[in-house]
Amino acid sequence: MAQQQEQKDTWPADLYGEKIDEIIDIGSGEGPLTTRIALHVKRIVGIDGSANMIEHFKKAYPYIESRVVDCRLLDQETDLATGNFDKVFSNASLHWILKDPEPRSNTIKGCFEALKPGGLLVSGSGALGNMAKLFPSQQAMKELIEGAGFNWIKGEVRLRQTTLTENEKCGVEGWIHLFGGPFLELLPTIEARDAAVKHAVDVLETVGRQQHDGSFAVNYIRLRFVARKPQWHHLSCKEFQSSDTTYDISCFEIVALIHSISRKPADIASL
Ligand SMILES: C[S@@+](CC[C@H](N)C(=O)[O-])C[C@H]1O[C@@H](n2cnc3c(N)ncnc32)[C@H](O)[C@@H]1O
Repeated sequence: MAQQQEQKDTWPADLYGEKIDEIIDIGSGEGPLTTRIALHVKRIVGIDGSANMIEHFKKAYPYIESRVVDCRLLDQETDLATGNFDKVFSNASLHWILKDPEPRSNTIKGCFEALKPGGLLVSGSGALGNMAKLFPSQQAMKELIEGAGFNWIKGEVRLRQTTLTENEKCGVEGWIHLFGGPFLELLPTIEARDAAVKHAVDVLETVGRQQHDGSFAVNYIRLRFVARKPQWHHLSCKEFQSSDTTYDISCFEIVALIHSISRKPADIASL
């Protein structure tokens, strides 16, 4: 019992949504999770790079906003990168979206630009330990997120064991079909594909099958984090330019400056 209590999830759902929140769900897929969150928030927009996913999303949940957006270019979506959203949420997607080094910081910049000052970026994805090339370590993610101007609030890496169903075509076999599709298509015949899948299932049986209860479990190492866009963020030179001078100054400094200019000399003397 004590051990169960320790295992209790300490990430409250209110990080994910409040009734007044306007949220973007990046890498929403076909939308089942977006729809669950939609019940608890004012507005949610599901965006995904795959036209096929969004087509399914629209068919299944026509009453929820969804559209095709490559999130690596989120900063170019003029009605999303508006600084009006309370949260940018992402589940099981960020490791795919960030897999290419080049657009990585642009993706996080897009999230930053979508959020209101004080808004939250909330993500759960795979972590280093699953597969080195695709999944980031917590430290690498933290550096990327902070590099875009966010304040890192908290992060966590945990082993989450998932027991797979045993139905035919589900479980490991279904998983290989789903994710291995592009590789299997390289094989010339259905027989060759089936043989390859069977071989992979047999190999995995030896590592995933539990001896104590016969179930099949896979290990997934999950990285979750929450980061906040600061209330006052540092403007880039491009954002704050006069005709002949380029200033490097924070919003906070601008407000303080405007405030002091609007004060009467007597007020300033009393400071
Ligand atoms: C494992 S699914 C997660 C779906 C959903 N968030 C969930 O938890 O059920 C990952 C999704 O990321 C999407 N994705 C991958 N790269 C992307 C990109 N560059 N821009 C937008 N979506 C992307 C994929 O199309 C896919 O739907």
